[in-house]
Order: sequence, then C-alpha cells, then structure tokens
Amino acid sequence: MSDPARSEEIVLAFLAEAGDEFLSGEAISDKLGLSRAAVWKHVNALRAQGYRIEAIPARGYRLVEIPDRLGELELRPLLNTHDLGQALHWFAEVGSTNDVAKRLADEGAAHGAVVVAEAQTAGRGRRGRVWASPAGRNVYLSVVLRPDLPPSRAAELTLLASVALCQAVRQAGVPAGIKWPNDLLAGGRKLAGILTELATDPDRVQWLVLGIGVNVNIREDELPGELRAIATSLAIERGESVPRTLFAAAVLSALEEWLDRHAEEGFPPVREAWKAMSDTLGREVRVRSSDRNLEGVAEDVDDGGALLIRTAAGLERVLAGDVEMLRPR
Ligand code: BTN
Repeated sequence: MSDPARSEEIVLAFLAEAGDEFLSGEAISDKLGLSRAAVWKHVNALRAQGYRIEAIPARGYRLVEIPDRLGELELRPLLNTHDLGQALHWFAEVGSTNDVAKRLADEGAAHGAVVVAEAQTAGRGRRGRVWASPAGRNVYLSVVLRPDLPPSRAAELTLLASVALCQAVRQAGVPAGIKWPNDLLAGGRKLAGILTELATDPDRVQWLVLGIGVNVNIREDELPGELRAIATSLAIERGESVPRTLFAAAVLSALEEWLDRHAEEGFPPVREAWKAMSDTLGREVRVRSSDRNLEGVAEDVDDGGALLIRTAAGLERVLAGDVEMLRPR
C-alpha cells in the first residue's frame, strides 16, 4: 500500500467500522498489510486532521470523534450507496456547488458524482434568489444524475429529491413537511431547498443536477436578520446539534433508494410518498408563476408532478411557481 492518503483512509474506515470497540495495532497491521510503525504514523496523521483516536497499550486504538467536516475522509466510510458519492468532490469554499457540478457534468462526470462544500460564496436558490451559505454549519451539496428519462419527466426527480430529503430530515428527528414543489418546512419555516438544473437532448435528459441546501446546525442568532422569521435549522428544531456527516450520508442513501425505486416502478410511489409528506395539499394557497397569479385550495399533485389548484374559475394546473400559504395551520 504505497499511497499514504489512501492508507490513511483505509485505517480510518477500519476504525470507523469497529465503532466503540478497540482494535489492536496488530489486528490493523495484519488486516491491512502495514507495519505497526506505519499504522502508528497513519493514526497520528489522522489526529493531525482533527480525528480523536484513543490509544491504550494492550487494547489498541479506538475512534472517538470525527471532525465536523464533509470531506471525503469523513463522508466515505459512512456511505452505503452504490452510485451516489462514488466520485466525491469536496471544497472548503466554492461559488456554488451547482455550478461546479454542472461543469463536471458537461465534462462527462458519471451518474452519482457529488460536489460538497463547507461554504458557498454565491449559493443560489430557485428563481434567482440567494441561498445563505455560511461555513461549517450546514450542508450544501449537488448530485450529478444521468437518468434515462425524456425531458418531460424531469420534474419527477425534483419531487423525488424532496421525498428523500424529507425522509432523512424526519429520521434526524425533525417532523418536516414538503411545500410544493420541493421546499422543506418545519413549523412553517424553511429548513431546506432544492435547486434542479438540467441539460437535455431533444428526447432525453443529458444530465440533471440536484442542488440540495439544508440548514443543519445554524443557530437562530446566526441567521441573517431578514431570514429569522422564515427560516429554521435541524438544530433549532431539535434543540441540539446534528452530526453533519451522518446527516449528509443519510440524505445520499435515501436519495439513492428512491432513485432505484423510481427506475423500477416509475413515478407512482414517489407521488404517493410526496402526497403523504406534503404540507401544501388541502391548504389555501396563492401561487405566483412567471405568467399568472392564482388563489385557491391545493387539491392534488398529478402524475406529471404539477400542482392542481381549485380556484373560483375551476381546476388549474401549475407546473412551476412559488407557493404561499394563505393561512397558518
Ligand atoms: C431553494 O429553495 O430556493 C433552493 C435552494 C438550493 C440551495 C442549494 S445549496 C447547494 C446547491 N448550490 C447552490 O448554489 N444551490 C443549491
């Protein structure tokens, strides 16, 4: 094993797999074909990067704490996915992970490539809005997908992403709901958003980038003043911080499960799950889209992912727009 970074990664993965158990230096060196001195060197290199590894004579090594960073070394051992995150591109700071992912997709990045950043200087939301992206608190990631779908069915993946994200958020102990098409709300405040961008050929999607932003550990007093009333985070909702690496890994595995299911069974199960997690259906809403404003009761989501609104004039179908709830729950 000649590449020291790779060996470090393997020592770490081995320690992570052992959980709370101690692993003897001998067991590690036998298993990985390294000398005891090399194991010691890798453990120290990991410590220098912020890993807390306990070493007790006659018992061995135990991983006690991983640094709060979403780098390859931290995330890779937690991933149980077959495609998502197989290629991982980590940045301490980037303009927008979506821009990087789009460039990589244009250059031929494989299905499942993930771009993740600790901070974004030009984080973007839907409809040209800014996505506040301070360092080290939240999750900003973009996934390159190459689905075998015609462009007319691309919207299905945006709803699918919100279902997967909502599942991961609920697993993290926060009872979130989805505002059409793909905002996650908790207690009426925004927790996460998804920005989908794509390139198409006439008859199929060439690539689709799902950009996912989740407020994870940002505190109320760290939110910009104008967001305080309308935004929240997992930590604010739970009253305690959430390990970002575990959460990011849970998002990617939920996303992959739903993508696999969608590839097998199509949109119906996604639509049913979306409806069950919806915070929009049955409520009075105002919808603003580029060409019209509508008011009425959000009645359903159809098999193309469009929102159906019962207005005074009848049932209207909306494919893209911004939903505002007219009454709190
Ligand atoms: C929205 O709700 O308006 C969508 C927000 C999407 C934000 C994420 S953060 C990672 C990715 N990079 C971006 O610039 N935007 C998305």
